[in-house]
Amino acid sequence: MTEYMTMTADTPPTRSTAIKLYDESGFAGMRRAGRLAAEILDALAAHVVPGVTTEEIDDIVRRMTIEGGGAPATLGYRGYTHSCCTSINNVICHGIPGDRELKEGDIVNIDVTPLVDGWHGDSSRMYLVGDVPIKARRLVDVTYECLMLGIEQAKPGNHLGDIGHAIQKYAEKHRYGVVRDFCGHGLGQVFHDAPEVVHLGIPGTGPELRPGMFFTIEPMINIGKPGVRMMEDGWTAVTRDRSLSAQFEHSIGITETGCEIFTESPAGLHRPPYY
Ligand code: MF3
Ligand code: CO
Ligand code: CO
Repeated sequence: MTEYMTMTADTPPTRSTAIKLYDESGFAGMRRAGRLAAEILDALAAHVVPGVTTEEIDDIVRRMTIEGGGAPATLGYRGYTHSCCTSINNVICHGIPGDRELKEGDIVNIDVTPLVDGWHGDSSRMYLVGDVPIKARRLVDVTYECLMLGIEQAKPGNHLGDIGHAIQKYAEKHRYGVVRDFCGHGLGQVFHDAPEVVHLGIPGTGPELRPGMFFTIEPMINIGKPGVRMMEDGWTAVTRDRSLSAQFEHSIGITETGCEIFTESPAGLHRPPYY
């Protein structure tokens, strides 16, 4: 059975197996953190161009996070030493910024998590580098739709399986593979908390959604099979069949009537192309 815990002023903000239910002060905290995440992703649109290195993008993320009154939650997280993840082409997630230059035709996911006053705003978007082949653009479009179809199911009374099912159904209709090895997650004052948000599932199964639940939805969709291979660095996850992979991520909170997206773009840069 799923356990829930109502967060009060004196509940310790530590990882739990129970699903935390936050109050209005939690929503206020997540709004600020989510807003900063979205503003950073908005600003990056102008910088994702041929020739820029992923390290330069990481520098911008770190600077903007700090200027915005936050700290990059990934910096020092389980030994990770960067302020964002940059996952190019066949990289599924957790690509490490480095001296690789983006080149025309690449697709790249940038994933940021500013920690603001103790709250985590976790979000990622895809970016197109110059002209990108239609095959890759289609993957990016479908992956964005997968996220939004999942979010549509995020309302009280529904179950996590409804979210996973909506994502899986749409992705598989396009004959894409849904990655199984990484999930969305509860978050708030903890970066990765219960529950696990699997991006496939059976309607009506899994934990019931209740007002005050905060979690991410972050589907990773491959043009080919869902299989994952880990690189030697221990972080970078790539598609086993070397096919292209895309991902979008929002942090959301369940409300009385549906959900609030904490990381929605204030500039309206929801999906590429961003100009
Ligand atoms: N932001 C990622 C997520 O969506 C987590 C990155 S952890 C890192 O959960 F250490 F790889 F940065
Ligand atoms: Co996440
Ligand atoms: Co993320």
